[in-house]
Amino acid sequence: MKVNQNIAKYQKYPVFKYENRTWPNTELTKAPIFCSVDLRDGNQALPNPMGIDAKLKFFDMLVEIGFKEIEIGFPSASDTEYNFLRRLIEENRIPEGVKVQVLVQAREHLIAKTYEALKGVKEAVVHVYNSTSTAQRKMVFKKSKEEIKEIAIDGANIVKKYAAMYPESKFTFEYSPESFTGTEMEYALEVCEAVLNEWQPTTYNKAIINLPATVEMTTPNVFADQIEWFCNNLKNRESVIISLHTHNDRGTGVAATELGLMAGADRVEGTLFGNGERTGNLDILTVAMNYYSQGIEPTIYMENINKIIKVYKECTGMTVHERHPYAGELVYTAFSGSHQDAINKGLKTYNDRKEKVWDVPYLPLDPADIGRLYEPIIRINSQSGKGGVAYILEAEYGYKIPKAMQPEISYHVQKETDKFGRELENAEIFNIFNEKFINIVDPNTIHSFSYSFDNTKEDSMVVKANITINGIIKDVVGVGNGPVSAFFNAIEPMLKDTYEFITYDEHALSDGQSAEAAAYIQLKNQNGITHYGVGKDGNIDSASIRAIMSALNGFEKR
Ligand code: KIV
Ligand code: ZN
Repeated sequence: MKVNQNIAKYQKYPVFKYENRTWPNTELTKAPIFCSVDLRDGNQALPNPMGIDAKLKFFDMLVEIGFKEIEIGFPSASDTEYNFLRRLIEENRIPEGVKVQVLVQAREHLIAKTYEALKGVKEAVVHVYNSTSTAQRKMVFKKSKEEIKEIAIDGANIVKKYAAMYPESKFTFEYSPESFTGTEMEYALEVCEAVLNEWQPTTYNKAIINLPATVEMTTPNVFADQIEWFCNNLKNRESVIISLHTHNDRGTGVAATELGLMAGADRVEGTLFGNGERTGNLDILTVAMNYYSQGIEPTIYMENINKIIKVYKECTGMTVHERHPYAGELVYTAFSGSHQDAINKGLKTYNDRKEKVWDVPYLPLDPADIGRLYEPIIRINSQSGKGGVAYILEAEYGYKIPKAMQPEISYHVQKETDKFGRELENAEIFNIFNEKFINIVDPNTIHSFSYSFDNTKEDSMVVKANITINGIIKDVVGVGNGPVSAFFNAIEPMLKDTYEFITYDEHALSDGQSAEAAAYIQLKNQNGITHYGVGKDGNIDSASIRAIMSALNGFEKR
């Protein structure tokens, strides 16, 4: 067996276990408070951080989609963020009910500058933090537990002192023990309680304790145990909003947040599409949409996901992966034939049913709900099945392909995809269908056609036609019980082979006076080979006659 040379340098992160956990038995029934940290944590991680104009545009979009708490930056550390905040306040851009949040380190001169930047704000969250983890205490700050706790207490005290200098504003205080998940739980609790002791929150004036997985270190269940233990052991829990702030180093930021919410948290910080340091922050839209797709009001609205993506890309310079949950370009596209077939059936059932309950296979969400169209759900490549092709011909072009005909069309489409080695556009699929099946006039052609009734006979329909068959132009007459059989009887003596008439289908192609009709006729030759032809005409009888000619010509071209 091959051995990984470097594996010995890694060690298992100590697993925190809360034996009294109840979170596995809980269910998420109400969305948490969502706080966007795009303009701070997300922005901090951009190769080219946003300028003021981009931040204003992004902020407006966050407000538009429903965020009520928005961390706008680190005004004490960056002139851009200071000036951005001033513009938000001075230009009255913060709507009623929306709180801006600012981050600041637990140091007096930075806190003082932060309040200066907030002057005149109606409501804001002042978010102070210091790192409490074992690794940071030892290696970065080289301080004892007591000294680190003192930094937090001082910060809390100063935050409160300065808030009192701005009585016209309403402030909520937030504290983060940065690297919470790398901190001993008892110690994290001790520091947070010391901070809360300074703030003395009440049920009417709650403080926020934000518990970050600054770097994701373990499986989400361990995080949930930490959160439940913390919530259960925190004094005066009802006066505190417990907030989560997960990063995504192990790729389970969303899972950790969801389990943390099951474990008792009230609030979530994250970014759109998970932008943020390294592998990013929590993808907050995914969490919101996970609620939505379970029928729980998310309070964040993704009705126009394309617009959100557009603004996000313009402002951050980042992209959204094609397979990104809910938002990616390919998320509502099925390539596999069996998936396409199942989606078709699911959509049909959904559309036919009075009671609108979304239960479509392979589509956890109705794409229309977020401004996506059904159109790109099915794209045709060499893996696609007949159902997908039929879906496109019906959804895009109005042709209700009989089930028995679908394999025949699919055969030609597959041949084409194999030839090109790529998926086909809808128009290309229609071209194949059109060229191979509809109103085919080569080599056999119908030049004119008329019919009349003869009420005295059983086979009352008389068809007269002028046709070219096998290179011979001729006037023919036939009788039958309808135009199709009469025409078929008229031309039969001229045919080289014998054909049996197998099936007939027809439908109107469009509504209104100028409606055209489509007719589908399947013939079988003496060798048992079947072939479909399609006729399209303003007159259904003419469409049927054309369909017969198309089918005959199809045999010629096999
Ligand atoms: O990831 C983190 O720990 C942070 C804190 C400042 C909350 O961003
Ligand atoms: Zn963070």
